[in-house]
Amino acid sequence: MKREIITTEDGSTTIHLPGWNEQYHSKHGAIQEAYHVFIEMGFFYFLKNNQPKTLNILEIGFGTGLNAFITLIEAEKTTTEINYTGVEAYPITEDEIRKMNYTHELKVSEEIFEKLHSCYWETPSEITKDFTLLKHKKFFSEIEDKEAFHLIYFDAFGARVQPELWTEEIFQKMFNALKTGGVLVTYSAKGSVRRAMQAVGFTVERLPGPPGKREMLRGTKIS
Ligand SMILES: C[S@@+](CC[C@H](N)C(=O)[O-])C[C@H]1O[C@@H](n2cnc3c(N)ncnc32)[C@H](O)[C@@H]1O
Repeated sequence: MKREIITTEDGSTTIHLPGWNEQYHSKHGAIQEAYHVFIEMGFFYFLKNNQPKTLNILEIGFGTGLNAFITLIEAEKTTTEINYTGVEAYPITEDEIRKMNYTHELKVSEEIFEKLHSCYWETPSEITKDFTLLKHKKFFSEIEDKEAFHLIYFDAFGARVQPELWTEEIFQKMFNALKTGGVLVTYSAKGSVRRAMQAVGFTVERLPGPPGKREMLRGTKIS
């Protein structure tokens, strides 16, 4: 499918799919959305409530690597060690990676961002002393982990274009992959998504969304 680079309202780039009229991030601001949904409502929330020594994160849709990048940047300010697993069936190209402006916008050296992309797939890579990345090139439907993660960033394309990824079947896999007390965050606030999450056992909160979006969802695996 054709992919184009666009600049979102906060000045950060993302990828646009003209065929689906869908983006990898919010048009209102890619970095802004990623910080709000995944870092504030997921990463910081989990750290504040649990103070873990080690945190295992699963990302659904590694894409441009923005979520991994900002998690690494924020994790460097903490004492928590991160094991980050990214699942992605259609990795972006070297040319697309070069066209992302995240290092410029976040004023962080290019070396780390490049390392997130250049490291091997299917092999854990120590990106920094406290951040290990494991990238799996596979479909979300192939995820079979059990009680492996504390936190899931659920960042699939919207249910409008990929309804098959927002089903009870996929959320059951997410629930199984989380440890007890684990948390899943997603930018979606759709009623059907909330109900699918609740049906497989998540306790779901509706939270304020990032600019341009009224709400988002956070699910906890209480038991
Ligand atoms: C919304 S984008 C993810 C954005 C990403 N988190 C980022 O920060 O750039 C959704 C991603 O899911 C991937 N994808 C779509 N369908 C998939 C599937 N069935 N299995 C695995 N990956 C899929 C796409 O290639 C895309 O990278």
